[in-house]
Amino acid sequence: MSAAPLHVALTDGYVLRRATPDDAPALAAAARGDRTHLAPWEPVRPDGYFTDAAERERLVARMADDAAGRSITALIVADDGAVAGSLNLNDVVAGAYRNGHLGYWLGSAHTGRGLMTRAVDAVCDHARGLGLHQVQAATLLHNEASQAVLRRTGFAHIGQARDYLFIAGRWQDHLLFQRILSDEPPRT
Ligand SMILES: CC(C)(COP(=O)(O)OP(=O)(O)OC[C@H]1O[C@@H](n2cnc3c(N)ncnc32)[C@H](O)[C@@H]1OP(=O)(O)O)[C@@H](O)C(=O)NCCC(=O)NCCS
Repeated sequence: MSAAPLHVALTDGYVLRRATPDDAPALAAAARGDRTHLAPWEPVRPDGYFTDAAERERLVARMADDAAGRSITALIVADDGAVAGSLNLNDVVAGAYRNGHLGYWLGSAHTGRGLMTRAVDAVCDHARGLGLHQVQAATLLHNEASQAVLRRTGFAHIGQARDYLFIAGRWQDHLLFQRILSDEPPRT
């Protein structure tokens, strides 16, 4: 099985496209360069997480999930080949739920210009095209930049969950958001 193509020109020389294992070096370089910037918003990563080889291994595993329709793994890539950010739609399920859980980050050099707003919108459009009914996302209570992205792209705040994810070394409460993509009944 192969994953449906995704390739969107965002703005100012950036494209949003599906990741491939060959992106490992550029993605690992971005993660290493922004390790401090991303640390408050992510699980604690051991040093071994940041190698090109570990990144390639994760991408190969994710490509298998993408091909099976269980996830969408996308990158925001600059004209010079640098990875500016990443978006993952995880835990994609069919049936009565038809939902995926969205996660994303931008490198510190690429924030403040609307890239993630456009990219989240594009991933939601793509997910709608694949027949998903909704996308959900969760942010730390103090992640106002991420909440702004979700609100700008049509997500509604649907609740707050206690000790929802183990982020930056401790269980932390999260705000929960949902965007309905389509009111069509599930495809059979
Ligand atoms: C969350 C995160 C992706 C948001 O980045 P961001 O740059 O604020 O988001 P966008 O790319 O959508 O840009 C929005 C900013 O660009 C500005 N902007 C400029 N042109 C814009 C346009 N055409 N459309 C929308 N926003 C635009 C907005 O005003 C906003 O700036 P402001 O916050 O000063 O008002 C980023 O902070 C990040 O990666 N953080 C660390 C990881 C993280 O938190 N991940 C999410 C976990 S839930």
